[in-house]
Amino acid sequence: AASPAGMESSQVAVVGSGLIGRSWAMVFAAGGFKVKLYDIAQQQLTSALENIRKQMKELEASGFLKGSLSAEKQLALISICTDLKTAVDGAAFIQECTPENLELKKKIFGQLDLIVGDNVILSSSTSCLLPSKLFTGLKHVKQCIVSHPVNPPYFVPLVEIVPHPETDPSTIERTYALMKKIGQSPVKLNREIEGFVLNRLQYAVISEAWRLVGEGIISPTDLDLVMSDGLGMRYAFIGPLETMHLNAEGISNYCERYREGMKLVLNTFGPVPEFSGETEQKISQAMSEKIPVVPKHLNARREWRDECLTGLAKLKKQMSSN
Ligand code: NAI
Repeated sequence: AASPAGMESSQVAVVGSGLIGRSWAMVFAAGGFKVKLYDIAQQQLTSALENIRKQMKELEASGFLKGSLSAEKQLALISICTDLKTAVDGAAFIQECTPENLELKKKIFGQLDLIVGDNVILSSSTSCLLPSKLFTGLKHVKQCIVSHPVNPPYFVPLVEIVPHPETDPSTIERTYALMKKIGQSPVKLNREIEGFVLNRLQYAVISEAWRLVGEGIISPTDLDLVMSDGLGMRYAFIGPLETMHLNAEGISNYCERYREGMKLVLNTFGPVPEFSGETEQKISQAMSEKIPVVPKHLNARREWRDECLTGLAKLKKQMSSN
């Protein structure tokens, strides 16, 4: 049988059926993979399947379903299971999506380590736990890797691939190829670092945003506009480095022109904020006025965000084929 992306089989297991596990299941099914979705809570699995069905039907109706198979065919690829051994049996790739808790994840990888063979890839969705914390000491450490998605992975394709120092290069390559195959956008980190790359960039932005509002320079809602109607407009298409390249006659010219100015501004940045106290209250109040912190309003806004992201994904596809 054909083995997609150098995989032994076209079957994957998703361990944990919460927010991220559901989305991964949809992404793999869109890529034509058979998915076994595992959880310790039967009720989580049932609600995951219902939710996936609903989402796929809606996506199909609006023309945004990923992949070449119909929603029914994709749904038929996903099955649920509360036995870990059955879930991973025959899988070429296992994506772990359990709560962000080091002890729990270590326990799960310890269990997996005892039941898997030498070819399967053990991959974690963790947002902040380092591979050296998660995988050290496992018999199958060469097959272990972090594949950190961005929420919601179905609409935001980036995946940060972060190896353990002992991860085999072939594990990195196979994971990278698999992510490409299912339509995600993988990037490789050469070694682990706190926050990986996405959160380091995100925290740099959040921390300056917090300081600017805290110092009374700008209101919380205007701060957000600087990103959504300013910087973010181009960041959806080109990164900060290409931005530099295009905003002058190339990088060297940019550095020549702006080096001193950038250093001057950067030297005025304050210390790491506490993310508490008056500034927290001020930002919380402003955000809650815009979007009350109740499920109805939060969910409506999340749905709107996902619609925007879907539209943006479509536009990006159009623009890249031009
Ligand atoms: P969640 O709380 O929505 O889902 C966790 C699921 O794991 C639940 O269904 C729970 O029943 C299940 N579970 C608990 N113990 C288990 C066990 N022993 N075996 C199997 N399943 C078990 O969490 P969420 O948001 O889906 O996060 C999962 C992982 O993805 C975390 O590591 C998180 O850091 C990471 N992540 C989350 C993002 C987010 O924005 N929510 C973004 C990127 C990564």
